[in-house]
Order: sequence, then C-alpha cells, then structure tokens
Amino acid sequence: MDFALDLYGKAKRFGIWDPVDIDLAVERAHWAALSEEHRAALLGTCASFFRGEESVADTLAPWLMAMPRLEERMFLSTQLFEEVKHTEFFARYFREVLPDADPAQHFAGNLQGVLVDDIADVSARIRRAMDADADSRMQALVEGVTHYHGIIEGMLAMAGYEHLDETWPSPQAFPGLREGFARIREDEGRHIAFGMSFLRERCGDCPRWREIVEATFDRYVPELIGESADLPPSAQRYRQLLAACYARRRRDIGLDGGDRE
Ligand SMILES: [Fe+2]
Ligand SMILES: [Fe+2]
Repeated sequence: MDFALDLYGKAKRFGIWDPVDIDLAVERAHWAALSEEHRAALLGTCASFFRGEESVADTLAPWLMAMPRLEERMFLSTQLFEEVKHTEFFARYFREVLPDADPAQHFAGNLQGVLVDDIADVSARIRRAMDADADSRMQALVEGVTHYHGIIEGMLAMAGYEHLDETWPSPQAFPGLREGFARIREDEGRHIAFGMSFLRERCGDCPRWREIVEATFDRYVPELIGESADLPPSAQRYRQLLAACYARRRRDIGLDGGDRE
C-alpha cells in the first residue's frame, strides 16, 4: 500500500483524541510540590513545546498545497489538524494549570531561529515556489521537509520527549501533562515517518536532492549537537539525545545506508 495513504488511514484511526478530554485536575498540586529548579526546567520544556507547536501549525499549509501527490496531501491534511490540536493542548494547559506563567518568558530563546523564524521563511519559499515549475517546487519541499520533519520533529521534539522520560519526578507525577505528551508523541511518530519516507524516496537516486538534505542539516545540526563544556548536565544530556535522533533520521532517509524499519 502507498506509504502516505497508509499513514493517512492510521491518522484517521488513532489521531482522534481531543485535548479537552484530558483530565488536568491534579496538575496544579503537582507543580506546587516541585523544587524551584525542577519547576523552571519543566516550565521551559512546556513553553518551548507550546511555541514550537504553534509555529509548525501556523506554517504547515504550504507543504500541504505543494505536495505533488494526492496521497501526500491527504496525509498532510491530518498533520495540519493534529498540529493545531497540539497547540490547543498546550494553550489549555497554560490557561488552566499555569495561569500566572508567561510562556514567552520561559521559551528557550536559542531555538527562535530554527523553530520559529527560519521555518516561517521556508514556508514562504514553498508558497512562492507554487507559482514556479515542478522542479523548483520539489527543491523547496525537500529543504522544507528536512527542516520541518527532520530537524524540528525528528530531532528537537523527539529528543525532547526522550529527555522528559528521564526527568519526570515520579511515575505518578503530572498524569494530564504526560497523557498530552504521549498522545502528541504518537501523532509526531506518523509525521516523522511521512517526512522521512518522502525524503528517502526522493534521495534514492538523486544526488541533487541528497545535497539539499545534507546542506539543510549542516545549517543547524553542528550547533545543536556540538560539545560545549559550559552547559549544565541536563542540557548536555539533551544534546546527546539530539545526536542520537540525528543519526536515526539519517538512517531513515538512507543517507548512511540504513533501512526504514
Ligand atoms: Fe505537533
Ligand atoms: Fe508534528
């Protein structure tokens, strides 16, 4: 079966959760029990995910419009809906659980470029390429999918979930937040699978598209995963997880000769 169509079918079956159904009744009490340090770290993570989800929800439409195949556009219609729901979840969480926290103040500012400004630029380039020939459109899409599905979702978000798994204060803590993250992570698994499959198909016999994928990774990856002795242990650990995600994405695409499964 067509890979995009298969993922579209999975999205119809599994992507139907509703952010308003998640029970947030005990969340405030769990925040109150956190140490100051842990609270600041978790607040930073939530604020950064909130900003990231809002950014990708706002910018995705041109990817959907420019995709050459109907099955790819069908899948991306589910992704757009899901990114909006992810944003809705974090908006609700801050509104109901953390009404005094300003997410903008806790957002990891070092991600402003890759997560907000640059993805808006790529989105605008894909939009402009809609009026150009099919080759220009594909060039913009290959860069765009590498940035969106490869770096933002396949590295920043995935490493974020794995880092969270290692840092929850207890298995019972924050049941609502954890359920939200778990649902979102499932959705993101389909988004990443779609993006990596798209790139793998295009790169297979085309060195030109491979060069664009590599150049897009090169623009961000060295700074994201580079060693830095000045960083606190938690940030060092996040970089390690980012590096492992990067290696996985390269294998998914077939850049290092790996298999998809
Ligand atoms: Fe998302
Ligand atoms: Fe996503």
